[in-house]
Amino acid sequence: MITFDNVSKKYDNDQVAVNAINLEIKKGEFFVIIGPSGCGKTTLLKMINRLIHLTEGTIRINGKRISDYNIHELRWNIGYVLQQIALFPHMTIEDNIAVVPELKKWSHPQIQKRVRALLEMVGLEPDKYSQRKPNELSGGEQQRVGVVRALAADPEIILMDEPFSALDPISRTKLQDDLLELQRAIQKTIVFVSHDMHEALKLGDRICVMKDGQIVQIGSPQEILQQPSNDFVKEFIGVKEHAFNVFDIHQIIEPIANDDVAHTVSSKDSLQSLLHQLAQHEWLAVEEEGDIIGGITRQAMLQFLAKDASQRGEVNG
Ligand SMILES: Nc1ncnc2c1ncn2[C@@H]1O[C@H](COP(=O)(O)OP(=O)(O)OP(=O)(O)O)[C@@H](O)[C@H]1O
Ligand SMILES: [Mg+2]
Repeated sequence: MITFDNVSKKYDNDQVAVNAINLEIKKGEFFVIIGPSGCGKTTLLKMINRLIHLTEGTIRINGKRISDYNIHELRWNIGYVLQQIALFPHMTIEDNIAVVPELKKWSHPQIQKRVRALLEMVGLEPDKYSQRKPNELSGGEQQRVGVVRALAADPEIILMDEPFSALDPISRTKLQDDLLELQRAIQKTIVFVSHDMHEALKLGDRICVMKDGQIVQIGSPQEILQQPSNDFVKEFIGVKEHAFNVFDIHQIIEPIANDDVAHTVSSKDSLQSLLHQLAQHEWLAVEEEGDIIGGITRQAMLQFLAKDASQRGEVNG
């Protein structure tokens, strides 16, 4: 769907921000880019919708070079959430969200309906918020508007640059959950930049770890956790032997219906073995002394591993 073929970006000051990247992002994939400040994440993202011009290589969307697209066609069909909130200050919240649908000439009632649904989705009561100006909203509320604005015209691709960074942990978790649900329902291709490994593990179908303009590792959350390709990745994810010592399967078991059919594991299985099996199966049924005592999901496992890391203060973010 989106392919990078030997793509580099060198800024005028000779700074090589992105260095010979090869990458294939699949249709419907939730692709998370993570790495330290200055490693080239924003640059990589902005090259996709031509906000930044690449200096070498080729980016293609659905097989067609981005340079061959009409710029409007490209931008209108790619939702974009900037790292800094950038709502139009003189326009109401409703008009801010409606920018691209207006450009695409949607009907007025259709636009109004869409705006209401989007505001509701992020917990902003339409009657209360739609006619306000951005400076009458808190920073976190503005950020939520920024997120739904990117979804407004139902684009195929959504680029999100640390969209939840200014939110409190509760709103942040809620928006992450909403976004996951949304992506499962409508299968958008999402390229999401994050500083936060917990967030990356939770959201990503695949995670791309960057350093100094290059890709260090790409893999599923399980692969990144199980087989970090080097010490940099290990340190970044903050998952060390400790996770294996404190693991207790009972902490992450959830109740399941008796007649659910699933791959079954023993409550005595090692963390390593459970990770291997979760790489194959979305969730596992857990047997103890002949009874099925519950189930574990990938999500619950990843949350355990990530929480363990962040609690020890080793995760950047
Ligand atoms: N317009 C510019 N001109 C020159 N250098 C730039 C420009 N924009 C970014 N850079 C440099 O390119 C590198 C990559 O920047 P980029 O914004 O892509 O990083 P990032 O990974 O998004 O960082 P952060 O996590 O802090 O947002 C940095 O070293 C930065 O200083
Ligand atoms: Mg950035």
